[in-house]
Amino acid sequence: MEHVCRRMRPSVGLRVVMLVALVGVACGQSIPGLEGPFVANVTDSSAVIWWGGPTAAAGRVDIGEWTARGEQAPYELLVPDLQPNTQYSYSLTLDSGVRLPAEGTYTFKTAPRPGGSDEFAFAILSDSRGSEPAEPVNAQALSALLGDAKARGARFVCFPGDMVFGYCRDEETYREQMRAWKAVAAPLMHEMPVYTTMGNHDVLVHLARDRFGEYDLDGVGQGGEELYGEEVFSSEFVNPPNGPKLPEKPGAPSYRETCFSFDFGNAHFVFLNTNYWAATRVYPYLPGDPCRLYEVGNPEGRVMERQINWLGSDLKRARAAASEHLFVFAHEPAFPVSHHIDDAMYYWGNATASLKQDVRRRRDRFWSLLSQYGVLAAFFGDEHNYSRSLIGASGSAEYDPAVWHVITGGAGAPPSAEFHPHVPWSDAVRAFHSRNHYCLVKVRGRRVALEVWALPEAERPGDDDLQTELIDRVRDLTIRD
Ligand SMILES: [Fe+2]
Repeated sequence: MEHVCRRMRPSVGLRVVMLVALVGVACGQSIPGLEGPFVANVTDSSAVIWWGGPTAAAGRVDIGEWTARGEQAPYELLVPDLQPNTQYSYSLTLDSGVRLPAEGTYTFKTAPRPGGSDEFAFAILSDSRGSEPAEPVNAQALSALLGDAKARGARFVCFPGDMVFGYCRDEETYREQMRAWKAVAAPLMHEMPVYTTMGNHDVLVHLARDRFGEYDLDGVGQGGEELYGEEVFSSEFVNPPNGPKLPEKPGAPSYRETCFSFDFGNAHFVFLNTNYWAATRVYPYLPGDPCRLYEVGNPEGRVMERQINWLGSDLKRARAAASEHLFVFAHEPAFPVSHHIDDAMYYWGNATASLKQDVRRRRDRFWSLLSQYGVLAAFFGDEHNYSRSLIGASGSAEYDPAVWHVITGGAGAPPSAEFHPHVPWSDAVRAFHSRNHYCLVKVRGRRVALEVWALPEAERPGDDDLQTELIDRVRDLTIRD
């Protein structure tokens, strides 16, 4: 019977197109190739309204009495002088006369005042790719999870990577896949920011070769110059531009909008790009010293010098500004427990001794910084399941206070039930689930609650009304036990 049902289902590629089309109709999107308007970088006194896509054109944004024009790409308007924790309505009118939305308005809400005690919630999810290249995004799962997060009161979404199937070798395919992602997320993006950074799939690569063999290297040739994945990614999304000012080396990619931080109420949020300047050697890593990759690219999970220094100074600033809660987001887990123990920030298996030592030394420095500045929780993706660990303290002076390490790679990528009990931190794992899910964090003054909502275990083709189920809950993360 199951076999018959599967045969009757539309192809995966067709399913994506159908879902994207449905989302487009539902959100009133009527211009092919136009994205938005979306809201981004919301603070207590400002917001960015932006629109894009291949057919984007000049237009005017109206918010009450305030109005401003976007004359040329990138169409990003900074809306100033807003009040904290206040809801605003807006619309975009293109010069052609087309108004978005066609009727009524979109709304967004500004952030609470910094340091105040206003309550708010935010969602974290990652890894929304489909199960094959023809399905760049698992539209059904991503759409259901984002809709649920919004319904449960999320004010913004954090998405640390593996948005699409990716591993693209040309710019247009990469942009098409990112546009497919945004078409699914559009109903949410019209009304709240979605902060993003890159995962290992979100790269634009060419096949390189050295004396040890072939490897994928960030960037494709474009008019005699290198066009890096970072550059295309940051032009497809709008994130804060306050990351490290310089690349790791002259000629290496910019960190702009893939590594950044922002404040929201009494909390501070930091995004890192742990797939910066990606150089992925085809497995196994042996034989061969990976040093060549360090010169022209960077193995995944290896956090380079400038980024880690920037992280240290950013966390220091946040602490000095008296941010109550600090949160960090990155794609590659510091302490993987599942199908990425062979890479991420661990490299358990086939890597050379020098790569293992180097990556782990950098991970230790990274985690020391989080502990030193009292980061409450760090959220990662990559592993297609949910795990919650408490890394540090309990008698050890190494990381005191401890920091929550949450892997939340469940936004639609094929779930994995693989769990490795032999990793040195397996005793620190408090929860593990292998269902598509997202995390909802509720900040209530000094207390911070975590809820994890999962989709039904069995796939239900054609069912767009998927009910989520609570699979993990911590009433107060600030009690680290
Ligand atoms: Fe990944």
